[in-house]
Amino acid sequence: MAGACPAPLSIAVANAGGLGACGALLLQPQAILRWAVEFRSGSNGGFQLNLWVPDPPPRRDPARESEVRAFLAQWGPAVPEDAGHVTPLDFAAQCEALLEAGPPIVSSIMGLFPPDFVARLKARNIAWFATVSTVAEARAAEAAGADVIVAQGMEAGGHRAAFDAASAEREMVGLFALLPAIVDAVRVPVVATGGIADGRGVAAALLLGASAAQIGTGFLRCLEPHIHPAWADALGRTMPEGTRVSRVFSGRPGRSIATAYVRAATSDAAPAPAPYPVQRGLTAALRDAGNKAGDIERMQVWAGQSAALARAAPAGSVVQRLWAEATALLA
Ligand SMILES: Cc1cc2nc3c(=O)[nH]c(=O)nc-3n(C[C@H](O)[C@H](O)[C@H](O)COP(=O)(O)O)c2cc1C
Repeated sequence: MAGACPAPLSIAVANAGGLGACGALLLQPQAILRWAVEFRSGSNGGFQLNLWVPDPPPRRDPARESEVRAFLAQWGPAVPEDAGHVTPLDFAAQCEALLEAGPPIVSSIMGLFPPDFVARLKARNIAWFATVSTVAEARAAEAAGADVIVAQGMEAGGHRAAFDAASAEREMVGLFALLPAIVDAVRVPVVATGGIADGRGVAAALLLGASAAQIGTGFLRCLEPHIHPAWADALGRTMPEGTRVSRVFSGRPGRSIATAYVRAATSDAAPAPAPYPVQRGLTAALRDAGNKAGDIERMQVWAGQSAALARAAPAGSVVQRLWAEATALLA
């Protein structure tokens, strides 16, 4: 979970028998290497490093951006004219850092890794887990050399994995339909993710053919990620229908709590968001103001549909409980 994955969270998960993970999207190469060193200082367990595959550069539309800036100024501070000039981190340099860190697993989201990078992963015996949101993407990932498919159902918190941002909302498939379809379509193992946050979800995923379950929101209320307390509290009272997939924070579709800002920004009266990552730059001041004020209605509060199942407890105990509940059900 980019932005919510400090090494202590992964250490706790790995030491309880799970697999730690680092969403490296927002980390410079040196920070990726430091994360891996910190993880290894606390655990001998497994971990994965994850990167977003970059989209083509966004097509800028100054008139639309100016409408979005005016809209956002009703919710937070005035948005500087150049706020949309966001330069993503250097993907090639991040890939080099992944190779240097040498984790057992590297995972992708939003597309496929370039073939030369895949070849270098394989030469180092690093497994490639490819996140997908449709059967077609799963087939493409397997053909490109993915060792494992991570099937992300539309219940998932945070950004949708769709390779093509334009089709992300049209192809919203729930995990109960997506998982068996992908298990039938590919020969490699499949990890299930999206809306799994207790032992019932883990057991159901395994029965539907998954080899493992990946959990995001279910760890957000744990002590280790240290998210804003207002966000953690809100997760505990968010029902499935209280979340929404929208582009209003970053320009790429993602599932968050349907706060007052999300509801207003997705209404017919609001301007359409700018593409990723322009919208992320435009909303930076609003998100910052929301965080400082602890105002949940203006914060970027990612949440999967099972948010209310997330437990406020140490991450290691959450892992142990998930596994104990799941194995009891499967027995
Ligand atoms: C705050 C947050 C950040 C996330 N960041 C990433 C990311 O950087 N890379 C990635 O592959 N998935 C990311 N995800 C998606 C998770 O890997 C996973 O697919 C999702 O959390 C599963 O749904 P759940 O939240 O209902 O468990 C993120 C999810 C959340 C909630």
